[in-house]
Amino acid sequence: MKLNIALLAGDGIGPEVIDQAVKVCDALAKKYNHDINWRPALTGAAAIEAVGDPYPDETHDICATSDAVLFGAIGHPKYDNDPSAKVRPEQGLLRMRQKLGLFANVRPTFTFPSLIDKSPLKRERIEGTDLVFLRELTGGIYFGKRGREDNGDTAYDTCTYTRKEIQRLAKKGFEMAEKRSKRLCCVDKANVLESSRLWRETVQAMEKDYPEVKVSYEFVDAVAMRLVQWPSEYDVLITENLFGDILTDEASVISGSMGLMPSASIGERIALYEPIHGSYPQAAGKDIANPLATVLSAAMLFDGFNLSEEAEAIRKVVNKSLSEGIVTEDLAEGGKSYKTSEVGDWLASHI
Ligand code: IPM
Ligand code: MG
Repeated sequence: MKLNIALLAGDGIGPEVIDQAVKVCDALAKKYNHDINWRPALTGAAAIEAVGDPYPDETHDICATSDAVLFGAIGHPKYDNDPSAKVRPEQGLLRMRQKLGLFANVRPTFTFPSLIDKSPLKRERIEGTDLVFLRELTGGIYFGKRGREDNGDTAYDTCTYTRKEIQRLAKKGFEMAEKRSKRLCCVDKANVLESSRLWRETVQAMEKDYPEVKVSYEFVDAVAMRLVQWPSEYDVLITENLFGDILTDEASVISGSMGLMPSASIGERIALYEPIHGSYPQAAGKDIANPLATVLSAAMLFDGFNLSEEAEAIRKVVNKSLSEGIVTEDLAEGGKSYKTSEVGDWLASHI
């Protein structure tokens, strides 16, 4: 298969972890006879430095005309500590999601047999966890009307959802639940928020079209608690943008390291694959960051083209590296650790 893939390394550890995913994909392409054309483009703080825009038109053109996007990370402390900054790296990510129409963010959480004791949660609580969040990604408070009033002393952000936006996300959730354990949890705050009541009403009305799927409705605060108490009780969860942002960071703790969890953002046509971790600026350039979340995001990319054998090959080699202790320092617990690039080389040579 010929694949044109936009390669957006971004900021912080982005370029390092992306390099490892590219090595692994290239090894895989060689083995399975695929032809991957990587199309690098600027984004985030790196793009602000270069051209003054975190998501330049040229980058958008490259993404929009590729078959998929592989993304590293975005964000820089220089902007985090300056609330008055007019242009911020994160705006690039949000604009990219919106312009590419990436309305559904798929974030799986699972455990690795060889890492189960690395999680701060007890083994018996997390064993067998295999859940997936579908986070709405182009609506809600992230994109609502915001501003200041009262000479700047009052600020507001608004959360708006349309029935259509909820339906298209929920449809993905129902379809995913049908393929998995047929359980779907709609996470909202319908006891307080009007937008959540629209979510609940919309999802309830869709239930009849998916008779096999059993839907539960839970409040976000309760889910935040139960997620770390009994994660294996959940399977597919659908939720709005901000709740999903928060809950998926929380869920990553179950696996033992944020450096492990991949994600896919899907839209009508193009999909983007990225690790759920951020740019981790403290580690940038040190060759110590865990590349596995990005490598596993590349596995999701192959899944996206129905190349499941290839995707499995990546997952297998990742599991092998973990059980053989070929890990970066976040997973080494004071034992022998490997550099980011060494882990990438090992994975590529064992594909
Ligand atoms: C994520 C990140 C982003 C978000 C930031 C970097 C804007 O936290 O992808 O979860 O909030 O969506
Ligand atoms: Mg987040």
